[in-house]
Amino acid sequence: MSLINPRLPVIWHGGDYNPEQWRPATWDEDMRLMQECHFRVATVGVFAWAALQPSEDTFTFDWLDRVLDKLGAADRYVCLATPTAAQPAWMSRAYPDVLRAGPDGRRGHHGRRVNYCPNSPNYRRFAAGIASRLGERYGQHPALVVWHVSNEYGGMCYCDTCAAAFRHWLQRRYSTLDELNERWWTAFWSHTFTDWEQIEPPYSNGESLTAGLTLDYKRFQNESMLDCFKLERDALRAHPSDAPITTNMHGQPDAVLDLRVWAPEVDVIAYDCYPWPTADASDIAFLHDLYRGLKDGQPYMLMEQTPSSQNWQPVNALKRPGVMRLWSYLAVAHGADTVMYFQWRRGRGGCEKLHGAVVEHGRDPSARVFREVAELGEELERLGDAIVGARKSSRVAVLYDWNNWWAVDNAVGPIQDKEYIPTLRAWYGALWRRNVGVDIVFSDSDLTSYDVLIAPMLHMVKAGVADRVQALLERGGTFVATVFSGVVDETDLAYEGYPGPLRPLLGVWVEEIDALYAGQTNRVVMADGGSYSCSRLCEIVHAETAEILGTFAEDFYAGSPAVTRNRFGSGTAYYVATQPDPAFLDAFVGRLLDEHGIMPPLHAPAGVEVAARGVYTFLLNHTDEVAHIDLPRKYHDLLRAMDVTGTLAIAARDVRILTTVQ
Ligand code: GLA
Ligand code: ZN
Repeated sequence: MSLINPRLPVIWHGGDYNPEQWRPATWDEDMRLMQECHFRVATVGVFAWAALQPSEDTFTFDWLDRVLDKLGAADRYVCLATPTAAQPAWMSRAYPDVLRAGPDGRRGHHGRRVNYCPNSPNYRRFAAGIASRLGERYGQHPALVVWHVSNEYGGMCYCDTCAAAFRHWLQRRYSTLDELNERWWTAFWSHTFTDWEQIEPPYSNGESLTAGLTLDYKRFQNESMLDCFKLERDALRAHPSDAPITTNMHGQPDAVLDLRVWAPEVDVIAYDCYPWPTADASDIAFLHDLYRGLKDGQPYMLMEQTPSSQNWQPVNALKRPGVMRLWSYLAVAHGADTVMYFQWRRGRGGCEKLHGAVVEHGRDPSARVFREVAELGEELERLGDAIVGARKSSRVAVLYDWNNWWAVDNAVGPIQDKEYIPTLRAWYGALWRRNVGVDIVFSDSDLTSYDVLIAPMLHMVKAGVADRVQALLERGGTFVATVFSGVVDETDLAYEGYPGPLRPLLGVWVEEIDALYAGQTNRVVMADGGSYSCSRLCEIVHAETAEILGTFAEDFYAGSPAVTRNRFGSGTAYYVATQPDPAFLDAFVGRLLDEHGIMPPLHAPAGVEVAARGVYTFLLNHTDEVAHIDLPRKYHDLLRAMDVTGTLAIAARDVRILTTVQ
């Protein structure tokens, strides 16, 4: 069992607290209200750089000393952030190289946040400096339980400092220009480089169509950001402390960071969860599984969620009564060991003054949101040391890869929006509807514990992946690949014959890819019954060693294989050569799970999620109706502290956590 910090062996409840925006008189009210709503862990210091270092040589830690001491005295804990996600104005002014440049290569002005150049020596020097001072001063503060480095790394910089660093990075990666020219296929359109100095970032008005370059620039920026994190982490680690170090990662990052590369560098994963109010529960669950997967199943932190509404979406609907609690338990069911919010108190100004908060303008503790937070906090407190640290175990895995996403998006053709993420969600959703546990894995993951691996649209097949899939098949596992897979290697060079290295495993060769207009469909007819709509992409496939399970029904390739099965080793490899509708996915996924006897922990009506975590079975009613579940035996209901048997009625949006009773 791995706890975030053994000094606090419970599910943490808390969130972002910005005392620097308020006069000290408010701090006492904060302490009182935090106690009232069981808000145990306050994330302090995010964006407090100007308050901590008002000028290059002035440091003002006294207010933070007082805040930490107050929190400690009030029996609260601290997630202490380094403030480096937004540099103070004095720094941008004195050292303009700290400012980020946009895709046109022009340096931007000071303002907003995450507006620093990750390769700026000055930014790095100041960031490591403030981290080191915080580490020295607070590393052994009794209230400190976790370090939070910076905030939501992301975006890209296209400045001259980055361009120069990129050229060095490329020299280390490719050694020679000949090698680089070959990997990037630069003979095309006469883009051959004859001097390293000719290589520029993929400016929007420049070299933005060379896929290998664009891909490598993202990898380079990802590593540059990660280097910034590592600098601060190491500056903190240089001072004694038992607090693990993390950084909050966000949503489904704008396809810029490869978080799998970050995972080994943080002690614990921290995830900021901001689903659209209209999101399907399966899409929310998918991202929780993704973040848990980053560190191969280690419990993670739900670092931020809104207690009520966001403010940055086009329409920011309130979370309906009960939804905040329901989605909090969804996180816990999927492996989160914390339930934390952005933000504790609404500021009176700034662009987030209308963002949901535990304490809203008016400061009324009888307000709905405050009451819901207080009730959840109390309930989590009653759980004590139950659940925390428990791991999930899944026999099914879905493969996700950021580099693949970048390559899919970069590819010009055969259809503009290839919908990699929606494709993943669609396949994941079919598994979610079956209530079986799913791990999200990556191209470098160990696959030995899985019976079923689904790799939707694995366009980029990296070295080593086919070998690990082969091993899975040889020991009797099932592998599923889908349309537009095995097209390129990791430098984005096309394989001569798709699906590349997966071809002998799948026993198919893809000769052509057809793209369908919006609204246009084809049909997949299965030999053993069933006819399903499919759209967007349809491939013309030759079954080499595979059997044909289903064929296309329309167009000039009517009768050609749409779904195939290849026996390989003692396993089975399926290929689905199109984007089929959810009815197909439901039936197909059902067949895979049946073949391996993979069952949900309990049978439940549609819309009721059943998720196992360790010995705990979570029942989450995502519907607006009462749901009834037949229990095959006696269980203990943890939240109600009573044994239950027979038929369980779960109110709309309610949650149960069951353990078996001997
Ligand atoms: C992000 C940030 C927070 C805040 C929230 C608002 O997750 O980390 O500082 O801006 O979004 O939703
Ligand atoms: Zn830069």
